[in-house]
Amino acid sequence: MIKKFKLGNPIETYATVEDIMLTNSKPELLKTGEGQRTLSMKLGKSDIIYGMGESVRGINKRGFVYRSFCSDDPNHDEDKASLYGAHNFFIVDRGHEVNGFFIDTPAAVSFDMGFTDPGLIEITLDFPDAYVYEITGKDCGEVTARFRKLIGTPYIPPFWGFGLGQSRWSYENEDRVRSVVKGYREAGIPLDMVYLDIDYMEDYKDFTISEERFPEFENFVKEMKEEGIRLIPIIDAGVKIEPGYDVYEEGLAGGFFCRKEDGEELVSAVWPGKTHFPDFLNPGARRWFGLKYKTLLDKGIEGFWNDMNEPAIFYTEDKLKEVFDEIDEFKGKNIGINEYFAFQDLVKSVSNNMEDYRRFYHNYEGKTINHERVHNLYGANMTRAAADAFKELAPGKKILMFSRASYIGAHRYGGIWTGDNKSWWGHLLLNIQQLPGLNMSGFLYSGADTCGFGANCSRDLALRWFAVSLFTPLMRNHSAMGTRNQEAYVWGNPDDFKNLVELRYAIVPYIYSEFMKAVQNDGMLFTPLAWEYREDMRAREIEDELLVGESIMIAPVYKQNATGRYVYLPERMLFIRFRKYNDYDEMVLEAGDHYIEVGLNEVPVFVRPGKALPLAQPAMRVEDLDYETVKYISFGGEYNLIRPSEENV
Ligand code: GLC
Repeated sequence: MIKKFKLGNPIETYATVEDIMLTNSKPELLKTGEGQRTLSMKLGKSDIIYGMGESVRGINKRGFVYRSFCSDDPNHDEDKASLYGAHNFFIVDRGHEVNGFFIDTPAAVSFDMGFTDPGLIEITLDFPDAYVYEITGKDCGEVTARFRKLIGTPYIPPFWGFGLGQSRWSYENEDRVRSVVKGYREAGIPLDMVYLDIDYMEDYKDFTISEERFPEFENFVKEMKEEGIRLIPIIDAGVKIEPGYDVYEEGLAGGFFCRKEDGEELVSAVWPGKTHFPDFLNPGARRWFGLKYKTLLDKGIEGFWNDMNEPAIFYTEDKLKEVFDEIDEFKGKNIGINEYFAFQDLVKSVSNNMEDYRRFYHNYEGKTINHERVHNLYGANMTRAAADAFKELAPGKKILMFSRASYIGAHRYGGIWTGDNKSWWGHLLLNIQQLPGLNMSGFLYSGADTCGFGANCSRDLALRWFAVSLFTPLMRNHSAMGTRNQEAYVWGNPDDFKNLVELRYAIVPYIYSEFMKAVQNDGMLFTPLAWEYREDMRAREIEDELLVGESIMIAPVYKQNATGRYVYLPERMLFIRFRKYNDYDEMVLEAGDHYIEVGLNEVPVFVRPGKALPLAQPAMRVEDLDYETVKYISFGGEYNLIRPSEENV
């Protein structure tokens, strides 16, 4: 059962694809207060909250205030209210009944999930204009499926997009890329993609290629493709201001950039220094920018990642001037404690601040509208720009596309990665805990930077992280400039990594098949245990185990120096301890608690009763997987394997 309500005068987000009749009254489960700016609901003592898409903290979102506001923030600490995506969908599991809520507005929303008052959810809208959807059902799966049907079919990547990708900021020239591919080849570790970060461009200008570092780009793309490796370049939101640069000139001439109140284009700095932001909310600008991907498609490129599209702002010309003026006032003064903090804050306030987000406008649906009111749609529409253009530029062909910023609705156009995490054990756990929320919001093609983006990774963390990422559809190892190298072959005894990546390739048929079922049935790929084991009070509190598809449960090791872990089994399962896709222990474990030993080179998987896990003979590239080699590890069940169709290859 789904009901739609209207608060104020909502701005269309195109998050939904179904027409639902408006109910002519205020929301029924949520109580409106204060000029319809707040919505609240009482929470029962043992109610669980799931959802909020890409966010910090656990699977149960209860006990924190989340703020839905796409943010460029590399510090994903426990107290961060916002990350890169804005996913305003959550469900409240009351045991006997489940309620789902989608607050559809492109402006910021705060979700106080029993933080201020443990017995209350209080939602505060920055602008009291939104469509509110209330969904009721008997369980979490039913409510989520209803919601997913409402928002439409998720993006399906090309089949090779299920392979491993290796990335780093940056593999800055052809030889560096070649050496990465060689490293994998010599270690015998499967690989499908190498990512190109900002340094492949000329001065960080979108849709350009550095002559110096990639002098023969088209040939190089071909050379890599002949080895079965696809190059995946990054595209950033900001367009460099540089007279003579075609993208800049065309954007200016077409009136495609975001403007300030006085009609001047906003000048904001990102990697290339001063840039303009394409107005992705304007269909003309969207089409113009989307068609620019042709430059790279024409050179043989088949996939992209869109970045800095919250949009990230290092500084705007206006703000920088204000801050310099204010800093001037500190000159020659005795800087005491208060001045010291004020001074520090001033400098920090230069990037990604609200004042700047209020400084510019979009041309949206025939109206000039302030950015603050539609902030969460910016990145989503950059992804849409690309996806719409791909249909035109490469009809019938699947192009890999994922983005950093997103809003619900963008899941139809591309996947997302979870941004700049760190090589921290805590972020490995966060990676596990973020997966159900992402799936609920429609983002099935997603994953985290394997081994961590910021900070230095260690061998044990790298192994444990690969052992988690091998289950996520998007599997990419990515790291920041200045950090220790973390490719799978750099760690010594690369066979340990080879075995993990081979296991990934062996289960690609399963991951793909379950991915497609989740797409077709509006289902989840990663499901919290309590969704399936409804009566099990222990399962309701499990935060570090997940069901992956219909056949298996995973319980990864995410603590340093641990030689194993406790695992809770809600029912009898077949425990498989993989050392290699064809070398594993099998043992039946009864329902209840168990301590399992898991070496650094091992992966624990639990097959559910009446189910089976397909395993193929691994290959060096996803496209070379031979479905004739698929065998099944069965725990008294059969498996319905969905094979990649022609159109997905
Ligand atoms: C951003 C992205 C990161 C990328 C870097 C340089 O921080 O999130 O993935 O490597 O920019 O382009």
